[in-house]
Amino acid sequence: MKIAVLPGDGIGTEIVAEAVKVLNVLGLKFEMEQALVGGAAYEAHGHPLPESTLKLAKEADAVLFGAVGDWKYDKLDRPLRPEQAILGLRKNLGLFANFRPAICYEQLVGASSLKPELIAGLDILIIRELTGDIYFGQPRGRRVATDGHFPGAEEAFDTMRYSRPEIERIAHVAFQAARKRSKKVTSVDKANVLETFQFWKDVVTEVHAQYPDVELQHMYVDNAAMQLVKAPKAFDVVVTGNMFGDILSDEASMLTGSIGMLPSASLNTKSQGLYEPSHGSAPDIAGKGVANPLATILSAAMMLRFSLNQAEAADRIEAAVNKVLSQGLRTADIYSEGTTRVGTREMGEAVVKALG
Ligand code: IPM
Ligand code: MG
Repeated sequence: MKIAVLPGDGIGTEIVAEAVKVLNVLGLKFEMEQALVGGAAYEAHGHPLPESTLKLAKEADAVLFGAVGDWKYDKLDRPLRPEQAILGLRKNLGLFANFRPAICYEQLVGASSLKPELIAGLDILIIRELTGDIYFGQPRGRRVATDGHFPGAEEAFDTMRYSRPEIERIAHVAFQAARKRSKKVTSVDKANVLETFQFWKDVVTEVHAQYPDVELQHMYVDNAAMQLVKAPKAFDVVVTGNMFGDILSDEASMLTGSIGMLPSASLNTKSQGLYEPSHGSAPDIAGKGVANPLATILSAAMMLRFSLNQAEAADRIEAAVNKVLSQGLRTADIYSEGTTRVGTREMGEAVVKALG
């Protein structure tokens, strides 16, 4: 089992180090190889996703990823910006299925900005299509408009598009995931306005015919954004496109109180996967030792379950995380009165200890 470890930028290096400690005490044999990615790779090699890093990621069974990005790179040409590293990995490894669970830990109910009764027991799985849509659609660029409201004016454009096979495969992923949960899928679209998403809705409906045991509901994305804060527990599996999934998964993560708790998995057809916390590089707190490593540690658990066939080890990690929360240990992002504030390293070490 080979794991490519790509800590990246900002708090990425601090949180990944804790996840690596946890992986090392499981008594399993992995080969772990580390490489630069994002701004760190740009500094060292002039590119956010150097050939050598991409090669390592392709050869590995799984990639453990921290985070990329820093405001100081915002002025670089787009192909050199840190974000291109994660987009490039998704594209080159074909990581089309992104799992973003939003789980509200019982111990953290108070950390949510919503009323406790709305989110206690919350357990949503957002499945975001990750290699299509307006993120990757061509053509895109800048030009002088020849039509529209202001012919002759400078304009920019992107292309939203989805092919049938792209929609079919993510729909299958969603229905199969729902079979292992409460057998309910909400497909989020904008079929009332967009051709791409009318097609999305039609194809998801067709695929659903193969899953009569699963309930399918369609919802427009604006309504979904509203329902997520109104009655989040009404959702179970949510499947949607790349762009809507980006937005709704951030919204869903906040229902739980802390984005610092949420792992994610991005899988291809071969079960190779990239595992990363749902949060970003947080340059404002980088290097201070205060970031929450639990999302990354939980991402390592997802990695064991989905790509490395070690479900038991994944269960152990998740139980250990529950245990440290029950012990009252909290990083700054989830701290509340009456609990014990700890730093990144102390939290990682507490998980290691809880593994026994
Ligand atoms: C995410 C992030 C990325 C995305 C950025 C960093 C390119 O927001 O993983 O949700 O937009 O997909
Ligand atoms: Mg995002």
